[in-house]
Amino acid sequence: MRAFVTGGTGLLGSNLVRLLAGKGYEVRALVRTAKKAEKLLDGLNVEVVTGDLTDIEPWAHHLKDCDVLFHTAAYFRETFRRGDHWTSLKQINVTQTVRLFEYAEQYGVGKIIHTSTNATVRKRKDGMPSDESDRMNPEEALNLYGKSKVVGDLEIDRFARNHRTPVVTFLPAWMFGPGDAAPTGSGQMVLNFLAGKLPGSFPSGIDVVDARDVAHAMIIAAETSTGNERYIISGHYTNLVELFAVLQKVSGVQAPSKTFPIPIVYLSTWINERIAAFRNKEVDMSVDELRVMTEMKRTSGAKAVHHLKVTCRPLEETIWDTVNWFRANGKNG
Ligand SMILES: NC(=O)c1ccc[n+]([C@@H]2O[C@H](COP(=O)([O-])OP(=O)(O)OC[C@H]3O[C@@H](n4cnc5c(N)ncnc54)[C@H](OP(=O)(O)O)[C@@H]3O)[C@@H](O)[C@H]2O)c1
Repeated sequence: MRAFVTGGTGLLGSNLVRLLAGKGYEVRALVRTAKKAEKLLDGLNVEVVTGDLTDIEPWAHHLKDCDVLFHTAAYFRETFRRGDHWTSLKQINVTQTVRLFEYAEQYGVGKIIHTSTNATVRKRKDGMPSDESDRMNPEEALNLYGKSKVVGDLEIDRFARNHRTPVVTFLPAWMFGPGDAAPTGSGQMVLNFLAGKLPGSFPSGIDVVDARDVAHAMIIAAETSTGNERYIISGHYTNLVELFAVLQKVSGVQAPSKTFPIPIVYLSTWINERIAAFRNKEVDMSVDELRVMTEMKRTSGAKAVHHLKVTCRPLEETIWDTVNWFRANGKNG
């Protein structure tokens, strides 16, 4: 099987490329920076294609002869930084994503495995975990990144109605794992923890999943699914206190002992954002991120467990491997 993977140097994409190569797939990985790919994908039997989603035409022909397209690239972690990112979010996560799928069909790719997010499902009022049917409207999204993925999913529905190439969309929870080179928000939190920079925790609730488990589920879908599908991969419902305790256990770094009430955290995060904007600096956590952490939304990965027979590894193993990867790569926060 020949697979084309976008976002080959990302947290999810690099783990996916590694898994695919290990399973004997012929892999073509789209990367923006050849040097980053050299470092991250070193030693793997992978064909690296350098290109950008803003301009697909120059590299689209590499989709030819690929059985499956795994689309993991997105305008994502850039939104942690200040500013209104809507133009880029819409361009990359909606317009160019659909354009990529059109090219994939044109070049004969048999199946598309896409990455959305569980931030596109709404919290249920009955207190039960949300599932794939609890789809948000764009106005319900908690932030612009989430909105771009909701709009993207709607456009992918339209694509699926009008094209023959099946699309399996994955909705992962908050991903952690080795290979978070950028880093993403989870990796930055781990680095801040290791550096003793986190002042404390606050009441929170969020699903956390290992990027390798998401990658594994995507490969199973590529090998077994037949039509258009959507799968949440939810992992473990946890909170900051528990995450910090696991981090302390695996890293030996003392967890912060203070727990702040949510209104205080909102106020201080809002003030920090204003000060950072005034000084033209970035914040470690934005109000947008805080909203996600404190929504206490739980999502169900039962459909993927049932259909794809996927299991998620223990949280401690994920955090252990994440911390060790950062340390082995000279990053201690
Ligand atoms: N991390 C999470 O918690 C989480 C949760 C749910 C869903 N997701 C989704 O999962 C997917 C993978 O995210 P991730 O966690 O692996 O984040 P990531 O490490 O930031 O990976 C994103 C990848 O997209 C690439 N990319 C960004 N803009 C691009 C462009 N214009 N052209 C080509 N490539 C571009 C990046 O390239 P560079 O390496 O050059 O920067 C990177 O490889 C995304 O669709 C994201 O929305 C993430």
